[in-house]
Amino acid sequence: MSDNPSTIRIDGQEIPFTAGQTIMDAALAAGIYIPHLCHYSGLPPSGNCRLCVVENGNRSVAACITPAVTGQEIRNNTPELNEARKAITQMLFVEGNHICPSCEKTGNCKLQAMAYHLGMLDDHFPQFYQRRELDASHPEILLDRSRCILCDLCVRASRDMDQKNVFAIAGRGTDAHLIVNTPSGKLADSTMAVTDLAANICPVGAILIKEIGYEVPIGQRIYDQQTIRETGLQEHVD
Ligand code: SF4
Ligand code: SF4
Ligand code: FES
Repeated sequence: MSDNPSTIRIDGQEIPFTAGQTIMDAALAAGIYIPHLCHYSGLPPSGNCRLCVVENGNRSVAACITPAVTGQEIRNNTPELNEARKAITQMLFVEGNHICPSCEKTGNCKLQAMAYHLGMLDDHFPQFYQRRELDASHPEILLDRSRCILCDLCVRASRDMDQKNVFAIAGRGTDAHLIVNTPSGKLADSTMAVTDLAANICPVGAILIKEIGYEVPIGQRIYDQQTIRETGLQEHVD
């Protein structure tokens, strides 16, 4: 237990936090990477991807939704937790249609980069071969639900930053899917613009901007230059 009233320990390292910060906020501010896919600095957390689960004493908690509390002893970068994170990542791969070599997002994709980070060498689980609706109705934005990992980031970005509420997640469990809040259910009938945060926040290749395909060549993309650990720390804003 720390004597400092405003510190927690992560993997033995004492770090400060301020009132209102989550374990994730405090960790990233201190330069400690906790793997995450649905956390985005500046948006309310949803706690749905479970990549950020850490051990707080003998409890497992999602770091992005759990407040930092004085004296917490957090375990984060352990072989057991990283194995569990790898299994979650493998599940995300088989739940959708993730054929990286044919995907425009390759090299810029957080799911793919997470797989590299966790040393994932195969899918492990059987493929679901999902058939989900593709929406190419919008003149500038493509929505390919077959790659959606239901991270909820576009929902929160559209609602809380763009003030448009274009998206929602409907259904539960294996029936969960992304819907567009228009009478037709089509993106073309929404007010979504290519400059919206929701159009640019997707961590995978589910929401893509049309007509810029392969503008940045493979080999020169984000995760060709940096690891997801490095970008994850850089993206944090206090
Ligand atoms: Fe691969 Fe990412 Fe595209 Fe899925 S979205 S196919 S993980 S590059
Ligand atoms: Fe997340 Fe992208 Fe799916 Fe939206 S479309 S829920 S941002 S994966
Ligand atoms: Fe915490 Fe996704 S980053 S649950």
